[in-house]
Amino acid sequence: MTGTEEIKNWLSQHYKASVTFNEPMSSHTTFKTGGPAEMFISPLTIDDAINILNRASKNRIPVMIIGGGSNLIVKDKGIKGLVVSLTKTVRKISAEKTEKQDVLVNVDSGVKTHDLCRYAVKNGLSGMNFALGIPGTVGGSICMNAGTATGEMRDALDSVEILNGSGKLKTIKKEKLHFSYRRLNWKNISPDPVIFSATFLLKKGDKDKIAAEADTLIKTRNNNQPVSLPSAGCIFKNPDPENPAGKLIDLAGLKGRSSGNAQISERHANFIVNKGGASSSDILDLITLAQKEVYNRFNIKLETEVKIVG
Ligand code: EPU
Repeated sequence: MTGTEEIKNWLSQHYKASVTFNEPMSSHTTFKTGGPAEMFISPLTIDDAINILNRASKNRIPVMIIGGGSNLIVKDKGIKGLVVSLTKTVRKISAEKTEKQDVLVNVDSGVKTHDLCRYAVKNGLSGMNFALGIPGTVGGSICMNAGTATGEMRDALDSVEILNGSGKLKTIKKEKLHFSYRRLNWKNISPDPVIFSATFLLKKGDKDKIAAEADTLIKTRNNNQPVSLPSAGCIFKNPDPENPAGKLIDLAGLKGRSSGNAQISERHANFIVNKGGASSSDILDLITLAQKEVYNRFNIKLETEVKIVG
């Protein structure tokens, strides 16, 4: 029996209710596109997740961890190996007041980033408003140091709890992590660790002021971005603050350009939207088009912010 057959049997025996085979990834990405995952599981507890990840590692099965699938394009031919979604694994948020105005908020990685922001607003805590409306989960947002014009994950983070390469849980303080623009590099920590939870350092503030600021940020976002159609948020990193990708693609005249049922958004050119029934290859064609046209016109290379897999 091959390692894959063996783990398929093992998963069916132990996690019958939460495992599926040939699972369409279009059900797990915010783009609503993507081919099948050979094996897909949403563990219900951290212990189950650790057990499954350790078994996959022993059988040398390639594993991909996903959060909300919001920054992800899965190619139409799908993913070999095991995809693990942590969105059903315990989803707690709890707070612990420390000295003065500081509050440490502990969050499981499968919690939606937006829900963490809403929790902070409701409890009069400042420091998370920058992330309002960012799609996806806390784990995913930390892995890519997600951010907006007003901040990024590293600003608010205190520590992460990870499962390291040897299958053990470990807490790592922010100072030990190597963040850069839309990136977290795990060098010197562990190869491909999985984040299970994170602690954020927020401040007790004026509840009404924080709520008013949140309203303004959400209104601006809803006005400037195509929030009602499936997308993956911004597709490209901004090459530099003077040359935001959206502006370059817009100036290249590409707003509204389509491939199949995917379209470069008319509202914000750094978004591609799925107008219904698009494939990942439609989206990838538009990515290539934008990169080519922006390079020809401005001699600037656009790098994707979204992760492309499969
Ligand atoms: N612009 C255009 N045409 C467009 C889009 C933008 O000319 O079609 C111009 C705008 O007028 C503005 C500039 O480009 O002068 C920057 O645009 P915007 O303020 O919308 O910000 P952004 O840099 O495109 C960033 C984040 C967004 C975040 C917004 C708001 C990145 C790659 N993107 O966008 O994050 O929501 O700021 O804070 O950093 C995401 O990461 O998925 C995301 C959407």
